[in-house]
Amino acid sequence: MDCWSLFQSVDTFQYPTCVTRCPFISNQSEPDVPYYRDYLSLKTILNSQHPVSETKGELVHDEMFFIIMHQAHELWFKQIIFEIDSVREIFKSEKVDEKLTLRIVQRLNRVLMILKLVTEQIPILETMTAQDFLAFRDYLYPASGFQSCQFRELEMKLGIKAKDRLGRSDAKLREALKQEERDILVETESEPSLSQLIQNWLERTPGLEEDNFSFYDAYKEAVKNKIEFDKKQIETETNGNLNNVMLDVIKQSVETFEDILNIEGYNQLFNSGQRKMTHKSFMGALMINVYRDLPRFSQPFQILTLLVDIDNQLTKWRYAHCLMVQRMIGSRIGTGSSSGYQYLRSTISDHYKVFTEIAGMSTYLIPANFLPSLPEDLKKRIAVPQ
Ligand code: HEM
Repeated sequence: MDCWSLFQSVDTFQYPTCVTRCPFISNQSEPDVPYYRDYLSLKTILNSQHPVSETKGELVHDEMFFIIMHQAHELWFKQIIFEIDSVREIFKSEKVDEKLTLRIVQRLNRVLMILKLVTEQIPILETMTAQDFLAFRDYLYPASGFQSCQFRELEMKLGIKAKDRLGRSDAKLREALKQEERDILVETESEPSLSQLIQNWLERTPGLEEDNFSFYDAYKEAVKNKIEFDKKQIETETNGNLNNVMLDVIKQSVETFEDILNIEGYNQLFNSGQRKMTHKSFMGALMINVYRDLPRFSQPFQILTLLVDIDNQLTKWRYAHCLMVQRMIGSRIGTGSSSGYQYLRSTISDHYKVFTEIAGMSTYLIPANFLPSLPEDLKKRIAVPQ
């Protein structure tokens, strides 16, 4: 007997609150009790598809599908923004409560899953042929994806800045929006982005700079030892006859590590916008990467991995959308008056990624046996979840 039949078999049965409050159970005799359709505002949502072709006299079948595809995306964008906002809220505190890191991981993972879902939705649009699309495309003009305020909000909340834009200026993109939406973007811009908050958090990585230990100094020494070791090994293998190619390899290795070990040079690149992360936050991320097996660093490592995954997945969405657009409109201009496919191609670039430096961190890793050993007291603290 299932629990529902059990309830019904009891004469003097009182529904438990979990049942009376269940929005999915119809109870017509109690109008105050939530009802599935009302709880989900389905009357509004399911009556919000208004194909223009219908008002022009003849419904074009695929226009309904086109509207629902966009609406479904916008609903998911809303959920993504909701999750990102909640994660940003946690990161806003001076000291992020480490008990909340699992929650951050869960929410970022949800964002990633939703992005995967909407990326997979894009090919469904390709069940509509370019010719089918032409049957109602003119009705849309000048409405365009450029007017998706939530998409811009999402980009900004992640950390994409006006100066990162390539194919179309930030000012021009805002012009496409209504005033109330522009106001939302101004407000969004005044708040710290996820990228900014993550950097603040990374700068506070435990053990990065302590009284008796500097991860930067220790790592610099470890890199020097590794390069010396490589040089000696090549010398031994070649009986001391290092040729130019070998010397070049060693020189390149030194130069690569100089990118992050020469703080002055790093800061120049940061100030000119060629690097997005502060040096200190970069070293925090590196420290979490190399000691990710220590308990206090394992969830932060997952957070960093998820941020890179989210960045990459958004690029995959851009790519899927761009390819679909090429198939749909070729090289025609978009209804938002951009060059269409060419413009969208320009957004599939590192300029539109926020966590590229975390993604590229593997450039600066060294084998585990060369890693600096941490002071015992620090190791103990990192080994214990706080
Ligand atoms: C037949 C289907 C579609 C076509 C032909 C199409 C076409 C385009 C074009 C040409 C642009 C460039 C701006 C312009 O000049 O209008 C654009 C931008 C955009 N579209 Fe679509 N699109 C389609 C479906 C979708 C869907 C389902 C979404 C989901 C919300 C979407 C979201 C966007 C967004 C957010 C942008 C701005 C991208 C950016 O500036 O980086 N599009 N679209």
